[in-house]
Amino acid sequence: RRRHTRLLTVTGVQTCALPICQVLERILSMEIVRVTERAAVSAARLRGHGKDKASDQAAVDAMRRELNKLPIDGTVVIGEGEIDEAPMLFIGEKVGNKQGPKVDIAVDPLEGTTLCAKNMPGAIATIAMAEAGTLLHAPDCYMDKIAIGPGYPKGTIDLDAPADVNIMNLAKAKGVKPSEITAILLDRPRHADAIAKIRSTGAAVSLISDGDVAGVIHCAEPKTGIDMYLGIGGAPEGVLAAAALRCIGGQMQCRLVIDNEALRERTLKMGIKDPKKKYEIEDMVKGDCLFAATGVTSGAMLTGVKFGKDMIETETVVMRSVTGTVRKIIAEHRQLEKFHLD
Ligand code: FBP
Repeated sequence: RRRHTRLLTVTGVQTCALPICQVLERILSMEIVRVTERAAVSAARLRGHGKDKASDQAAVDAMRRELNKLPIDGTVVIGEGEIDEAPMLFIGEKVGNKQGPKVDIAVDPLEGTTLCAKNMPGAIATIAMAEAGTLLHAPDCYMDKIAIGPGYPKGTIDLDAPADVNIMNLAKAKGVKPSEITAILLDRPRHADAIAKIRSTGAAVSLISDGDVAGVIHCAEPKTGIDMYLGIGGAPEGVLAAAALRCIGGQMQCRLVIDNEALRERTLKMGIKDPKKKYEIEDMVKGDCLFAATGVTSGAMLTGVKFGKDMIETETVVMRSVTGTVRKIIAEHRQLEKFHLD
């Protein structure tokens, strides 16, 4: 670590004795805010237009433009798909100006494309960044997930236990009745059994139509009243959510849903030796990371983009695992010509 230590000087005055890698990482935690802000504004221009693909493409274009301005030597490990199916921000794409640290990047430029197309609550633009080689290179398949917020003993949840058992164990650890627990799930027929089991304990079920990155993060935000996330959602979204929990605390267990031979082969090719592995947060995000999300439409976590007369307002949450700091940044953008490309 000392090898990287240099004193930064501004006009000859010693101002900072932090390791250079930490200074860069602190700067990047602000820089990634610009990345999600731009993606969110671009997507928001198409809110409620019923055009899933167009709003996603707008977010991708803006996010890629901003990423390429950053002082990083970045590789997209969670992106819009593989090279043959995604022209931009594909898995393996190099981003950044190459003048900085080697980093892994996970992006979902528009998480909740349908929410945006229908102008429903909860669409976000999101990114996670970590040292190269530390983020799980997950294929774009489903992932079985369970998550709770911080402050509970390890072992409170188990992905392999039935949903009712997990609810009872969480209620015990929280010191409340199961009827005082709320679990959040994607509203999908595949979750019928888990929903019935949760309700059989007296616990409440909160159903979301899309957007399970925020669904997982809600477990660590007491004001949401959500205690547990469970169910099957996207694997890329699972890695992004794990990065957020790595910053703010909580527990999460996940397993890829590999249900055909072609997918199994793709997964092995991506370097995953055991496709049935039960992942903990530390397996998906092996070191320190940054996470940011900007609201596209207003939801429980973030306010969506507001287009004013001469100003655009965005709200972003940015997290650093090194310190566990969570910043909410409300930005008023006045140089609107900068957004004309979006
Ligand atoms: P998109 O933004 O890619 O549409 O993802 C939305 C989402 O709801 C995710 O939050 C979730 O992980 C996934 O889709 C669930 O997939 P499905 O809609 O196939 O159940």
